[in-house]
Amino acid sequence: MSVYPIILNQTKFTHRDSLKYPYEERALQFGDGVYEVIRIYQGEYHLLKEHVDRLFRSAEAVKIKLDITHKELTDLLLELLERNQMEEDGKMYLQVSRGSAPRDHVFPADDVSANMYAYMEDFPRNVELLKNGVSTITHRDVRWEYCYIKSLNLLPNVLAKQEAKEHGGYEAILHKDGLVTECSSSNVYMVKDGEIYTHPATNNILHGCVRMRVEDFAKELNLPFKEEAFKVEDIQTADEMFLTSSTSEIMPIVKVDNTEIQDGKPGKITKQLQEAYEKDANITKNKINA
Ligand SMILES: Cc1ncc(COP(=O)(O)O)c(C=O)c1O
Repeated sequence: MSVYPIILNQTKFTHRDSLKYPYEERALQFGDGVYEVIRIYQGEYHLLKEHVDRLFRSAEAVKIKLDITHKELTDLLLELLERNQMEEDGKMYLQVSRGSAPRDHVFPADDVSANMYAYMEDFPRNVELLKNGVSTITHRDVRWEYCYIKSLNLLPNVLAKQEAKEHGGYEAILHKDGLVTECSSSNVYMVKDGEIYTHPATNNILHGCVRMRVEDFAKELNLPFKEEAFKVEDIQTADEMFLTSSTSEIMPIVKVDNTEIQDGKPGKITKQLQEAYEKDANITKNKINA
């Protein structure tokens, strides 16, 4: 199955074919909205609270008013799982836009309410890649100054990821003023001398839900977690590299542009973190080292 039949349309459940938007819709015309992608393992959301909290933070940052509480939204999302009898590994996409109104850059009148929809689909773990790692490219970070907002404006991310694909890469590692920020749709880390480095959670990166967990795992494993941006040239001598996101999990990076990271195999610390992730997410099927 790809997309499950029941979707959330505003606060009602409908068949996926019934979702219709007018052409004058703020997400379609301006990318004027925010979104979340939540991982599902064996029919259960992973990091649901973290994602719902971030959605509200993003909406507030762009002044989109959600006429719903955290609890109400959480309950609706849980009901979506139930109504679809979701039992597999999957992902849920949730989008909120400023609403439907005649095209005008300024916000619509107060009586125009936000549009929200959510749907879910199967998304099996890519165990082969998690085991063997991925190649990446480096790419200039040309995005705006509010990257902590999970906004629908993803054109620079789309272009960077496409460039990676055209060079046989899985992701594009973005850099600004010589410093690595994050990837086009994930956070990125370097391991050097037993310490994990990643860009601090400033306006210049999305504060990833998996990133928050990696910080916890590092603490539990007694591994220093340094929120210090590293330089593009530091990659040349990195001991390990990895990236994280809800869909990529903790993904080893084994090549950046033409440079292999050490022996071109996933590193020891990356593997330790992957193990901690599987435990934390209660993954019992389709494990990396089954
Ligand atoms: C630009 C960017 N950075 C980081 C992430 C990782 O966020 P999370 O771990 O919450 O999925 C994403 C996720 O899609 C992203 O788009």
